[in-house]
Amino acid sequence: MEKPRHFLSLLDVSQKELSELLAMSARVKKNPKKFSRSLEGKTLAMLFQKTSTRTRVSFEAGMTQLGGHAIFLDWRATNFTRGAIKDEILSISRYVDAIMFRAYKNSDMVEAANVSTVPLINGLDNLWHPCQALADLLTIKEKTKKPLSKTTVAFVGDGNNVCNSLIVGCAMLGIHMRVGTPEGYEPYGKAVEFGKKKNCLKLFRSAEDAVEGADFAYTDTWISMGEENERKERLHAFQDYRVTPHLLGNRFFMHCLPAHIGEEVTREVLDSKNSIIYGQAENRLHAQKALLVWLLK
Ligand code: CP
Repeated sequence: MEKPRHFLSLLDVSQKELSELLAMSARVKKNPKKFSRSLEGKTLAMLFQKTSTRTRVSFEAGMTQLGGHAIFLDWRATNFTRGAIKDEILSISRYVDAIMFRAYKNSDMVEAANVSTVPLINGLDNLWHPCQALADLLTIKEKTKKPLSKTTVAFVGDGNNVCNSLIVGCAMLGIHMRVGTPEGYEPYGKAVEFGKKKNCLKLFRSAEDAVEGADFAYTDTWISMGEENERKERLHAFQDYRVTPHLLGNRFFMHCLPAHIGEEVTREVLDSKNSIIYGQAENRLHAQKALLVWLLK
């Protein structure tokens, strides 16, 4: 049996495919009615080990808007808590046309993908958040006043899953990234290697250095779900990486949300005229609709 096409990270698509996906996202956004029957009769299972607002709602609303249907599965209310990932995913694969999975560990994501007989979409794990990156790239393309090759995005704080996916996506499109993290919190090696190979990534130790010359300033939580027991040491490590009005300057501000006000960012920045966080959240819907159509058609 032929293996289905999965979307576990942006490394699963070519540069050309990423550009096509973003172009399609813009078309879906501009003319949603044209796609209203694209996934008629199709079902998406949405499996969550962790909490979510944007990912759950945008995928579910997206499937409805495409003429399909989505089923929400809270991991804790299923027999994934008692059975093997292999048996549960193979069963679900017999009922639905695609699975979106939010996992704590990338190893669980890979285990699920290895057996799934339908396309599996990574809705976030500890290493990647590729659906977020699709929406972020769509947002950057909409907002930048420069050619992509002259656009610079700074990411400050924790070199986490959101940062890793953005590094790969930016490098594929020729967008420059400047990442500022404390020692020990650098992005994932595979993402760094990819960004550097494309000459699109520079790493810094200070937030001020990272944002220099950047058009966009992006940050995310310092304490991801599952890292709560590291709270004290993380708050200490990241104390100089908060995005304040002074650090932001006249750059666009991006955050994947939820934000932890007073930690990685101030309320003033979130509410400022330079903040594009809600447009960024909205683009999750358009980009994921394009992804679903692309994977399922
Ligand atoms: N950015 C993001 O993935 O949001 P949720 O965790 O609310 O889904």
